[in-house]
Amino acid sequence: MNLILLGPPGAGKGTQAEAITKTRGLVQLSTGDMLRQAVKAGTPVGIEAGAIMEAGGLVPDEVVIKIIAERITAPDCVNGFILDGFPRTLKQAAALDVLLGDQNKKLDAVIELKVDDAALVDRISGRYMCADCGASYHDTNCQPKVAGVCDRCGSTQFVRRADDNAETVRNRLMAYYRETAPLIGYYFAKGKLKTVDGMAPIADVTKQVEGILAGIASP
Ligand code: AP5
Repeated sequence: MNLILLGPPGAGKGTQAEAITKTRGLVQLSTGDMLRQAVKAGTPVGIEAGAIMEAGGLVPDEVVIKIIAERITAPDCVNGFILDGFPRTLKQAAALDVLLGDQNKKLDAVIELKVDDAALVDRISGRYMCADCGASYHDTNCQPKVAGVCDRCGSTQFVRRADDNAETVRNRLMAYYRETAPLIGYYFAKGKLKTVDGMAPIADVTKQVEGILAGIASP
């Protein structure tokens, strides 16, 4: 099963992708995570992407398309993947169509997470991650079971993303509405779009997503 999670920054794409990978054995492909790794490693891609990401803009299409083209042909993607943060422009969506066609793969669903803008700003400004395994938490909505200890790996070190600040969030939202929101119409026209209420609590959103996946016929 090959899926796209579509939604603005902070909509819960990463949170839901993590939940589905656990239940469905799919691979999560987050272009944001891949780019952050490249920035950390100081690769040429990371050097090009770092300043753009920190300002809340979009990394050039050619760069992310190349990353995804290489990644979806990896052996671990054979049973399916969840694209989290890709495609983000109509050009990326068209390139994905070609990539999937070349590999005789199909897109099963594009799941749009619908969330109010005010809630997005709150979610992003309250988000923090485990410094060791990357598990995502929130100051009020999603705290570790034991305060200060990561549920997943037991680490006590946490970090916040450099682009999770009020000014950058506004730029990220603008980039979303200008470049990414048109993909809702693109995938609706292709009969792939499914929309869930992303304002519901995390576990309820997961139930909505699972309901959609249960309705997708196996190949
Ligand atoms: P990326 O890492 O993809 O960031 P994003 O799209 O801005 O999305 P986020 O990771 O901020 O949010 P999310 O929807 O995953 O929400 P999450 O689950 O974490 O991209 C970063 C940058 O990289 C971009 O700005 C761009 O520069 C570049 N980039 C990446 N891909 C690119 C591409 N294809 N083309 C060009 N440039 C690209 O949840 C957020 C918080 O809310 C968490 O704390 C969580 O616990 C909480 N939460 C989640 N769900 C709920 C809920 N239902 N109720 C309450 N709280 C919730």
